[in-house]
Amino acid sequence: MNRPSILKYPDEELRKISQPIKVFDDDLKSVVDQLFEVINTQGGIGLSAPQIGVLKRISVVHVPDDEYGPKVYINPVIHSKSAYGIVEESCLSIPEVVANIIRATKINISAHDISGNKIQANLVGMHAVCLQHEIDHLDGKLFIDKLTWPRRILVKNRLKRKNQRTGIVGI
Ligand code: NI
Repeated sequence: MNRPSILKYPDEELRKISQPIKVFDDDLKSVVDQLFEVINTQGGIGLSAPQIGVLKRISVVHVPDDEYGPKVYINPVIHSKSAYGIVEESCLSIPEVVANIIRATKINISAHDISGNKIQANLVGMHAVCLQHEIDHLDGKLFIDKLTWPRRILVKNRLKRKNQRTGIVGI
């Protein structure tokens, strides 16, 4: 399998809304395999299909050594959030940016598993935080959107300078 490349900010694809999965087939399994391949080789704790150019509602989360292990969430929906805290986040699609974000650390969710079975779960801690970040990707949202405006301008200007050096334009 060729290693999938990760779309990087400010790629327009990252701003699109992903579509629900209706068929749970080998194509879906292949996308999930690719997502795990990326986080296993690049050290992320979560990834969503639009980050590898597939606009489908598929996210994976694997926080090393936590109680949940590697998990696949197809068409995930958050039903409730609580226990808000400040969490340090980063994203494989926005290299070199780390920022403090306010997130719920307890969530109640439903989703489908890779075979199409409906799952319901109460999630806590970093796994819950990461899944919220991943569901944002499915809706075309990025964690830097949540920064206060002065910080957001600083980060975007820094990314703009970096992208000018590397020849990427479009911020
Ligand atoms: Ni991300």
